[in-house]
Amino acid sequence: MHFKGKADIKDRMSNIKSKIYILGLSCFYHDSAACLIGDGKIVAAAQEERFSRKKHDPGFPKNAISYCLDEASIKSEHLDYVVFYDKPILTFERLLLSYLSVAPKGLRSWLKSMPSWLGQKIHVPKIIQKEIGYKGEVLFTEHHEAHAASTFYPSPFDQAAFLTCDGVGEWATASYGFGSGKDINLLKELHFPDSVGLLYSAFTYFTGFKVNSGEYKLMGLAPYGTPVYKDIILKELIDVKTDGSIRLNLSYFDFIGGLRMTSKRFERLFGGPPRKPETNIGQREMDIAASIQSVTEEIVLKMANHVYKETKLDRLCLAGGVALNCVANGRLLTEGPFNSIWIQPAAGDAGGALGAALSVWHRYLGKDRLSSEKKDSQQGSYLGPQYANSHVKEFLQKKQYSYHQLEKNNRASTIAGQIADGKIVGYLAGRMEFGPRALGARSILGDPRREDTQSKMNLKIKYRESFRPFAPTVLEEKASEYFEIDRASPYMLLVTNVRKEKCLSQSPHDGLSMLERLKIKRSDIPAVTHLDYSARIQTVNRNDKPDYYDVIAEFERLTGCPLVVNTSFNVRGEPIVCTPEDAYRCFMRTEMDVLVMEDFILYKEEQPLWEKTKEWRDEIILD
Ligand SMILES: [Fe+2]
Repeated sequence: MHFKGKADIKDRMSNIKSKIYILGLSCFYHDSAACLIGDGKIVAAAQEERFSRKKHDPGFPKNAISYCLDEASIKSEHLDYVVFYDKPILTFERLLLSYLSVAPKGLRSWLKSMPSWLGQKIHVPKIIQKEIGYKGEVLFTEHHEAHAASTFYPSPFDQAAFLTCDGVGEWATASYGFGSGKDINLLKELHFPDSVGLLYSAFTYFTGFKVNSGEYKLMGLAPYGTPVYKDIILKELIDVKTDGSIRLNLSYFDFIGGLRMTSKRFERLFGGPPRKPETNIGQREMDIAASIQSVTEEIVLKMANHVYKETKLDRLCLAGGVALNCVANGRLLTEGPFNSIWIQPAAGDAGGALGAALSVWHRYLGKDRLSSEKKDSQQGSYLGPQYANSHVKEFLQKKQYSYHQLEKNNRASTIAGQIADGKIVGYLAGRMEFGPRALGARSILGDPRREDTQSKMNLKIKYRESFRPFAPTVLEEKASEYFEIDRASPYMLLVTNVRKEKCLSQSPHDGLSMLERLKIKRSDIPAVTHLDYSARIQTVNRNDKPDYYDVIAEFERLTGCPLVVNTSFNVRGEPIVCTPEDAYRCFMRTEMDVLVMEDFILYKEEQPLWEKTKEWRDEIILD
């Protein structure tokens, strides 16, 4: 036991006082999160779902806040400012006016939304005070201001244009402008109901996926289809202006007055009712996915071209849910006017917590930026909790689970050897990622060269739809040998093509089912090559994540292949694991072969019998 002397305490207290702490919060819509900055540096950021174990948890982020305060060893009374990422009164006004514009039709949806408004959203300062005992001032940023700040301030650019694009925040659905030093200048906004995010979500709903969570699946489905509905979408559903702004034909949508996204008229246009969730995905859904994906990419490209024309800046920062569409991002990089693009890894509303906090520091308090032109200040997005070896060991011993301790000289080679043997490895190491992507801190790893890795991971480990592709993590210096990319992609937000020389020519696969097409080997790295020869890549370098880099470097030494499959450490519908306990549970519930937690390795066959709660999958609501 180590008792801290008075000097230690005094030292810690003086540290506390010498820093200005700002807590940013996003909650009550979807993806609640908290972020703490100390003197402008990001100290910690995490989504509430990782602690509460409820995917996209919209509730007050009590656990995430408590983690952030712990990380800085402070209490809520040491906070100088708390800031909320949205102005609830403006959102309330939008809901009220939208309802009045269609009344009495929208009464049911209006009544449905009211309890959460009267109970929570318009009482944010009181809730903050009650939940965490903070008595100081609560500030509010506008929603798209928070998105813009979340991407410009941590970016490595001193000056850059920004574009934010999402479903809706208050009134805005997209915005653009430019940042310069500590200033952010908004030039224009696009307003509700004209929204690229809502348009994409309407198609997500119509193809049988969950809104605000299944958008990724729609994007993954797109390469299976042909964009046969593209012209219809452009002719009937939306009017796309030359500046990329859009006008929705509201007779096809039902999100203002109804409880659904699309109207009967929409159904007639696309040949019948929406696909029921969990039923077969047909050619219609694949073609719709291809069509709306192509339309979205064109809108994003048009918007970006316009932003470039207006700002004359050759760097762009992106945020908002639409910025998670990595296929559109990849096209923007190759076909768009900008030399360089930086995308906030937590581009959705969770990132609003980070943007709001940074906005207070730079815009409200007028403090200068810390980031340099060389490197962003996102710290690899490894901003969440970490569990020391001592903690992991204590957990394993207490539970009497079988484990082996790895040493510095054999850690990477042992893990890489397992992957090369075709084993699927759960990997928990270092601080948890902030944002929806697993970047090697909470990941499941596999061998990209094996044809069966994709179906094994999808069906036996993730329990998810088999059409969904996996992403590779590749050593940064080797990325261009395998992929058509000439820059780093540390946050897995860009889709690029697998190099032609790594691809295998294919005979036409007309008439084959989706699963049959999936089984055709497309490249030397089939597990990460999507149907259209694309891959959503993450690059890793030794400075940012040495433990993970070393594993892949060893895998290359063993196999000649400088990349691994990297998918998030969870099963379908479950948030990504946070603690060693979450990781072990996921390891034992699935057919994962090996679990690595910091410097410990666990083999499935050595584990004590796992008491299967037979309905454990019922606890998880499918996403
Ligand atoms: Fe948003």
